[in-house]
Amino acid sequence: MTTDPRTMDKIVSLSKRRGFIYPSSEIYGGLASAWDYGPLGVELKNRVARFWWREMTQLHDNIVGLDASILMHPTVWKASGHVDNFADLMVEDTVTNERYRWDHLTEEQREAKTSPNGNPLSEPRVFNLMFSTHLGPVQDSSSTVYLRPETAQGIYVNFKNVVQTSRVKIPFGIAQIGKAFRNEIVTKNFIFRTVEFEQMEMQYFVHPSEDEKWFSTWKAARMEYYESLGIRPERLRFTEHGPDELAHYAKTAYDIEYEFPFGWQELEGIHNRTDYDLSRHGEFSGKDLTYLDDQSRERFIPYIIETSAGLTRSVLMVLCDAYDEEEVGEGDVRTVLHLHPRIAPVTVAVLPLVKKDGLAERAREIERELRDDYATFYDQGGAIGRRYRRQDEIGTPYCVTIDYETMEKDTVTIRYRDSMEQERIAVADLANHVRSSIKSYKRAAL
Ligand code: GAP
Repeated sequence: MTTDPRTMDKIVSLSKRRGFIYPSSEIYGGLASAWDYGPLGVELKNRVARFWWREMTQLHDNIVGLDASILMHPTVWKASGHVDNFADLMVEDTVTNERYRWDHLTEEQREAKTSPNGNPLSEPRVFNLMFSTHLGPVQDSSSTVYLRPETAQGIYVNFKNVVQTSRVKIPFGIAQIGKAFRNEIVTKNFIFRTVEFEQMEMQYFVHPSEDEKWFSTWKAARMEYYESLGIRPERLRFTEHGPDELAHYAKTAYDIEYEFPFGWQELEGIHNRTDYDLSRHGEFSGKDLTYLDDQSRERFIPYIIETSAGLTRSVLMVLCDAYDEEEVGEGDVRTVLHLHPRIAPVTVAVLPLVKKDGLAERAREIERELRDDYATFYDQGGAIGRRYRRQDEIGTPYCVTIDYETMEKDTVTIRYRDSMEQERIAVADLANHVRSSIKSYKRAAL
């Protein structure tokens, strides 16, 4: 049996050291549960988002995109049920004033009404998770607006706009990536649960008689998506929500869970939201949100199958899944991120073996040629072995080395991160070679 090299401490430390993720406002001591994405982190996050967007909108001709605003009309959140239902039961340690979610306490703590510190707890109290603020200069209840707790509602309120202005016909989907906010109690596990986060949500509008068929289709498709991203299948599983766990809008719900170093946790929710959302928005807005099938002339309120993934949580997942420490020689261990080449912050590192004799200049030229198509990085500092290791640690899948043979024959060596094997290829073939290697990338079984 091999031991799991991943610990959250190592992942947090690598993230900080290599510029993936920093604590927010760190020079002021940080802000609990808020994080900033550094130069490599923002590239990784953008690429994970891009991978999802490509999967949804580019590879499906019946899914279109949307980017709705974060602040919406406050009635949206009455209609959606969030004003009345989006709440946790909270208790407070009467000595330290620390707050806990009632359902996060153990059976014994709930029975004895004591906190994890052993102090008496206050009575449970309902605490709405939406952040509110005021729009305009007057701060009264009529000016209250909310920071959206999910991106989905921006899609529902634009359903009619999209139907009228694009050529979509049921079944079709609307995809969106954006920020969401929840005033959650967060104490641990890095960027897993934060008060400000990003979601990647796709709402698929279907005929009510086909809801179960589409639910199973999307459930399977979403699992395949994670596998196409190179995530280890043995660390992914489904769990179904029991009747007492279902959100107020859901008829059926499954989570895709990932085995993080701190245990199995939700990565994405797949929900059959029925006609709940469109019916409620129709009712509250007084607008007709029915759909007319122009073939059958049937008018109906579509059912919605939702796939709702966390973008920032996916970033943590890909870091945890990619992280490895491998023995590469007697007592020599390399730290490596086995990121899928489509999401790695740097795709190709270009490294001259030495700086002199024109090698650095040629390496620069090659790097500039690749730049148009790939995220490149040029590094001429230090021993070549050390430079490879630096790229392994940030997950760069290809290192191209320019040596004396390059100057004679116009060939380079390409080193593959996962196998560490090297191959000699002509500079003229390099860009195409990288392209086909990305296309056929399969993570080796570990
Ligand atoms: N529209 C449905 C919805 O929002 P959810 O299960 O509450 O469903 C969907 O959230 C996904 O959003 C979760 O699976 C998770 O990946 C992400 N998510 C939710 N709350 C989060 C938080 N506080 N921090 C980071 N990601 C979060």
